[in-house]
Amino acid sequence: MTELKYTTAEGLKVQLDNINLCKNKQIILQNIQVTLSSDDFILMTGQNGSGKSTFLKIIAGLLKPDSFNLNYSEQLKNNSWQSSKKFLRQHFCYLHQTPYLFSGSVYDNIAYGLKYRGLNKAEISHKVHEALELISLPHLVQRNSQVLSGGEKQRVAIARSWVIQPNFILLDEPFANMDKHSRHRTYATINQLKEDNIGIIITSHDPHRGELDFNKQMHLYQGIISEKEYESNA
Ligand SMILES: Nc1ncnc2c1ncn2[C@@H]1O[C@H](COP(=O)(O)OP(=O)(O)O)[C@@H](O)[C@H]1O
Ligand SMILES: [Mg+2]
Repeated sequence: MTELKYTTAEGLKVQLDNINLCKNKQIILQNIQVTLSSDDFILMTGQNGSGKSTFLKIIAGLLKPDSFNLNYSEQLKNNSWQSSKKFLRQHFCYLHQTPYLFSGSVYDNIAYGLKYRGLNKAEISHKVHEALELISLPHLVQRNSQVLSGGEKQRVAIARSWVIQPNFILLDEPFANMDKHSRHRTYATINQLKEDNIGIIITSHDPHRGELDFNKQMHLYQGIISEKEYESNA
């Protein structure tokens, strides 16, 4: 398994600032500054087109901003996109609203990242079964991923991220196409991730009060992020 060099018992703290991005002369993100910690559970809001997906893709190392500074420990700073991208991809995992699963079994999809990291068959099998317990879908282990419902696909994608133990999982509108039953199952999975001390950011229009116990809310408006306390009783 890839060693997570900068992770301590307290988890990981990452500071990103001076994030700027313009596309076609339109400012999408402007001087964004955020500190993210693996005990964070963040609700990210903002109108359609306000830049939520763009922001998540940048911090997952999938999209290059025009400028940025990354600090990930007292001493370590990095301003080169090439090496920051590597660091970010190792620690952050971005999950698309309709996650891509390749054609093959649920087992194969979850095992993929573990094979890539060189684990042996027995270790892979153990972890895949653990992940299926996490998402409460052990009975789907041999099911072809293409026949799963949208909610099941989302949970398998979460399991596939979880097995490689990132410090942060970024869920982009995970509930957008889910019925009530799937939503409740997914709440349970996400709350379980929190027990494992994985930092989570969820973009959503709904505050999910009473279901998800966020500790922060970030709001994007006109390229700027404002941070406030999540009001669980509002
Ligand atoms: N590849 C791109 N090229 C040009 N503009 C883009 C690109 N990706 C996103 N945008 C624009 O950036 C803005 C933010 O998009 P997005 O991050 O998808 O917003 P949100 O996720 O909040 O709905 C939108 O105005 C969108 O049109
Ligand atoms: Mg979006």
